[in-house]
Amino acid sequence: MQAQDIRQKFIQFFEEKGHAVIPSASILPENDPTVLFTTAGMHPLVPYLMGEVHPSGKRLTNFQKCIRTGDIDEVGDNSHLTFFEMLGNWSLGDFFKKEAIEWSHEFLTGEQWLNIDPNMLSVTVFGGDDDFLDLPKDDESAEIWKAVGMPDNRIAYMKGGVAKSEDNWWGPAGQTGPCGPSTEMFYWVGEGEPHGNVAENPEEWLEIWNDVLMQYNKTENGNFEPLSQKNVDTGMGLERTATVLQGKTSVYDTELFEPILEKIGALSPFSYEEKMSSYRVIADHLRTATMMAGDGVKPSNIGQGYVMRRLIRRAIRHGRLIGIENVFTHTIAKKIIHIMSDTFPELKHEEEILKTLSDEEEKFSKTINQGLREFEKLLAGFERALENTGRKITEISGKQAFKLYDTYGFPIEMTQELAKEKGLTVDVKGFEESYKAHKEKSRSLSAGVFKGGLQDHSWETTRLHTATHLLHAALLKIVGGHAKQRGSNITAERLRFDFPHAEKLTEEQREQVEKYVNDAIASDHKVTMEILPFEEAKKREAIGLFEDKYQEKVKVYDMGPWSLEVCGGPHVEHLGQLSTFKIKKEQSIGAGMRRIKAVLVEG
Ligand code: ALA
Repeated sequence: MQAQDIRQKFIQFFEEKGHAVIPSASILPENDPTVLFTTAGMHPLVPYLMGEVHPSGKRLTNFQKCIRTGDIDEVGDNSHLTFFEMLGNWSLGDFFKKEAIEWSHEFLTGEQWLNIDPNMLSVTVFGGDDDFLDLPKDDESAEIWKAVGMPDNRIAYMKGGVAKSEDNWWGPAGQTGPCGPSTEMFYWVGEGEPHGNVAENPEEWLEIWNDVLMQYNKTENGNFEPLSQKNVDTGMGLERTATVLQGKTSVYDTELFEPILEKIGALSPFSYEEKMSSYRVIADHLRTATMMAGDGVKPSNIGQGYVMRRLIRRAIRHGRLIGIENVFTHTIAKKIIHIMSDTFPELKHEEEILKTLSDEEEKFSKTINQGLREFEKLLAGFERALENTGRKITEISGKQAFKLYDTYGFPIEMTQELAKEKGLTVDVKGFEESYKAHKEKSRSLSAGVFKGGLQDHSWETTRLHTATHLLHAALLKIVGGHAKQRGSNITAERLRFDFPHAEKLTEEQREQVEKYVNDAIASDHKVTMEILPFEEAKKREAIGLFEDKYQEKVKVYDMGPWSLEVCGGPHVEHLGQLSTFKIKKEQSIGAGMRRIKAVLVEG
């Protein structure tokens, strides 16, 4: 069964169970952007899991583009990917355990669905938590599994580590947001006849689907408060499921990757078998970078753009490792677009995507060889030091790493990888100090950047979120219709807003934008939410409608004459709750994009 069949069946199955199909959201969290990338299907749905009304109803399903770069160093093995698709279905305060489990079972084993031999399956249920929540083990879910025919010995209770988001507890680790115990489904990947269960032989069972029984909100101070509604949030990894159903041991052996690897093979003098890990890194990283480009990300030195830059540059270095000296990323990306664009129409901007990759490759091609030589020189220096003084140097200094970064464009992680291959380490702290000394801010380089996650929905972020709508409307009015939101990020302290525009805002434009927002605040207009048919929202010229993500109904926030924008919420109730809006910074982030940072100040 091919991935596209699994995807199509999943959606059809849940449609038949009364779920509305919603589009895959962008990998850049839109509107309420408290993470760097969308990491799970639930992510774009957080406001609704917290109780906001969803325009399509209480049962939803989709396939969602996801990016997780936390395990980037593992890419190259059989299963790790930085981009993957998650098939999901949700109950927003509608059905709960019984239907969730019965339907999961039906979809996995039903003849017209995945038709998996039940003997190939094992499941886990929440084993209780006495550290934090004093929650009992989830006998109810175990009973439902038994009732659908899961043998006793295939059901494992997993002790939930609520605080650390361990087994059978799902929630944004260490952060805030909706969470809860889960029941997970596993497929036998061991030798011979399936036996035991996940607790007994964990290596031989591979998780394919996770049903989260979402009942809590983790608050800023680490407490767990019951949610106003009980939700179900499920996620099935598409690539992984395709792999096991095809009887393959690696995701790279499926039709999703084989054509990409073939393309790489046509460019390299080494075979896939000889250089498997590099082939896989190139295929994975360029797939992710292509999807990023499809959603409008451009390589840069900060935030999402930095993650993208890191992926492309690492792919290029691995290209060098397998003997590809010429520009090649666009050739591979073309293939990727060919495979994926039926499913993800945003890839139809092929030219723009290929140019994004080529521009970055061109930039890095100018310096990578020199940089690699510089690195070799460093190693030679270490050798000489050993010969002359008997002193063995095992660490690349922060200054040296910074030179590789600043002069040759080596992301610090690349220097770390090069170092590791030679049994060396890098003084990352020293690197950060050098970096800070050169550029005042190195925010985006702290490890935190790569661990996207929910921040809080506190009052400050809600207010800044409303301010973001006003800013967006102001820019469209004052700067022009092209100044549409391309990225946005909100912390408790400030909002950040990216939009395409060729030059710096004039002093006058900047003042007018601030005035627009502050006039809106002064009007103290009510903020209301309405669910409108798509056509109606279009007629009323709501901001943020995407034609290629057509939905029957959309949720819009109405701020009277000031703003009408499609959004999940939440927002303040009236604009007077915003105090004074102030632009702190307006700068270029390259490639015709501008970035505004703004705050709300009292008085
Ligand atoms: N949100 C759950 C996961 O990502 C379903 O596993």
